[in-house]
Amino acid sequence: MKPFDFLILGSGIAGLSFALKVAPHGRVAIVTKKHRAESNTNYAQGGIASVTSKEDSFELHVRDTLEAGAGLCKESVVRTIVEEGPARIQELIELGMKFTERDLPPPAGGRELDLGREGGHSKRRILHAKDITGREIERALLAAVAGQPNIEIFENHLAIDLITSQKLGYVGENRCLGAYVFEKKTGHVRTFRAPVTLLATGGCGKVYLYTTNPDIATGDGVAMAYRAGATVANMEFVQFHPTCLYHPRAKSYLISEAVRGEGGVLKSLDGREFMDGQHILKSLAPRDIVARAIDSEMKKTGADHVLLDITHRPAQFIIEHFPNIYKTCLSYGIDITKEPIPVVPAAHYQCGGVLTNINGQTDIAGLYGVGEVACTGLHGANRLASNSLLEALVCAHRAALKILAEPPAHVEIKIPAWQSGHATNADELVVVSHNWDEIRRLMWDYVGIVRTNKRLQRAAKRIANLQDEIHEYYWNFNITSDLLELRNIATVAELIVRCSLMRPESRGLNYNLDYPQPNPEWSQRDSLVRK
Ligand code: FAD
Ligand code: SIN
Repeated sequence: MKPFDFLILGSGIAGLSFALKVAPHGRVAIVTKKHRAESNTNYAQGGIASVTSKEDSFELHVRDTLEAGAGLCKESVVRTIVEEGPARIQELIELGMKFTERDLPPPAGGRELDLGREGGHSKRRILHAKDITGREIERALLAAVAGQPNIEIFENHLAIDLITSQKLGYVGENRCLGAYVFEKKTGHVRTFRAPVTLLATGGCGKVYLYTTNPDIATGDGVAMAYRAGATVANMEFVQFHPTCLYHPRAKSYLISEAVRGEGGVLKSLDGREFMDGQHILKSLAPRDIVARAIDSEMKKTGADHVLLDITHRPAQFIIEHFPNIYKTCLSYGIDITKEPIPVVPAAHYQCGGVLTNINGQTDIAGLYGVGEVACTGLHGANRLASNSLLEALVCAHRAALKILAEPPAHVEIKIPAWQSGHATNADELVVVSHNWDEIRRLMWDYVGIVRTNKRLQRAAKRIANLQDEIHEYYWNFNITSDLLELRNIATVAELIVRCSLMRPESRGLNYNLDYPQPNPEWSQRDSLVRK
């Protein structure tokens, strides 16, 4: 295949917005492992946090982000992303994104953007499209991409591994040259070559048994970057969203924090408002605090879920603000205007990732990372709600500017075609599905909301055994997408456990009963891992 100028892995908000910025300057390939819209972005509900109201200020948004991040955010990164946010939002609107608006009361009249509120925010600042913000973002970005002749999208193509100069045996600076990509329809592995490769592969919710994330979220970008020699940071900070719908037929359905932003209250099964006395913001406290309180409530009472009650708001208000949540819950027999919603915490967001600066640069030349795959320092030890879509927009823009200002060198290195050796078709695919389940369950049981050293060490041992088995399988049999993703979730699980064991303290989302307090020596330290 003819080389591209830009290779983008992933078609969520990070990949698509970067593609639009660089398309006027060269040929762009977007490689995406399912249908082009299938991404975490597509399921985002609450919205995008950004300062757009007179009542709000950059200073307050910065302060809220730093506070949620429990001391570990990089303040200069936070400040830049917060301050550049409004310009990026304006661009999104100009591309055709329709945010929900509200009528202004007389005498002013007219309309303005409707602003929602979520946990940890001291002001209303969440721009949203009802409760399906992500779907509207994907629609707008994909429509814009469709009008760009320079962009080619490869659906149902799964990136297997990055191609680097070091892996090919060249000494000196390690440079990314592109990626090997598995074409699902044919089972062939194709070579994509480009001087710029952007990881925009999102997060890793599927490493856990219960998650709000769709099936694509298997941490492929982090695993590929790690195998290629990039530094990965802060993987212990996995954010558990407090309110995933608890219902035997519902798979990964989120009940947006915006429901609590509009007055929803967390209650135990006997109606106690258990967030009282836990935090001044009660049910709207930062997520780490709320998720831990729910976990503790469930353990104390033996209940398998808690309740989220918004029935005190008028039915019309609820249906108007949360039409999709209302409809979805109703399809499971729950009328949220009349009864509380059964909810449990579930793995939601990867705060760590491939270490990058604010321009998306990793420590491998030619390799960039933007969005949930990257760790820029914005989120610290706990992400403030609705800051991730904002980060993706700002960093995609900055990465494009940086690359266009300092184009990477074209290097003359011959890339060999993918070698599958003497692999045959596997006759025991049950091994793959068993290992998938085992990793996800052990991560849930041993590396969840509350951790101990003993459980982490136990998890480390089991993961190492599973990795040996996967390794053997990987080299002896023809690859399938399930096997490739299994290898990646095992790597990411290993990295989460290693980072968690590295940090001798409880901070933000890393809560370890063996070290229940923050350790001042770690207040500014990232947990870094490299192959
Ligand atoms: P994604 O949008 O996840 O896109 C990743 C892309 O990479 C996908 O196209 C995927 O198919 C592709 N991909 C992955 N691996 C490979 C591979 N190996 N080869 C090829 N392609 C690959 N954040 C907010 O700020 N506000 C919210 O309201 C909000 N609500 C959320 C609600 C839910 C239910 C979930 C799950 C998340 C929510 N988040 C929210 C988080 C936010 O949606 C994500 O962090 C953000 O969308 C990530 O964007 P991204 O472009 O980095 O990755
Ligand atoms: C939500 O709508 O609760 C999700 C917001 C987020 O994860 O940022």
